[in-house]
Amino acid sequence: MSPLPDALKVGVDSIDKRHEEFYVLYETLKNTADSEFLDAFDAVILHTKAHFAEEEADMERILYPNKTEHYAEHQKALDEMNYFREKVSSGKLMFAKAYVKDRLGDWFRNHLLNMDSDLARVITLSR
Ligand SMILES: [Fe+2]
Ligand SMILES: [Fe+2]
Repeated sequence: MSPLPDALKVGVDSIDKRHEEFYVLYETLKNTADSEFLDAFDAVILHTKAHFAEEEADMERILYPNKTEHYAEHQKALDEMNYFREKVSSGKLMFAKAYVKDRLGDWFRNHLLNMDSDLARVITLSR
């Protein structure tokens, strides 16, 4: 059974699979011990870079009309993740944990329900 809640599925398998991977890595990060936090955060960031690159390749392929906004949101999210990742390496773990717990999950959900579900809609139409 998929760990991704049904409410977060967009109906395009490749996208749902990526979101499932993010979801699992994010849940691990949220619940991880402090000593494992940095490794778990790095795993999320590494996944996210590939995740965004694959979505962006889909956008190019179908000449997606809203790609500028979508790319910008990806970039902003990655910049934020890298910013808080740096906080961990400079000893401000609690700061990064608060970001992960209070913001990153909501970001994922909102981005998925707005931008990624619109992308999925256009991919489905283009088939
Ligand atoms: Fe996505
Ligand atoms: Fe996206």
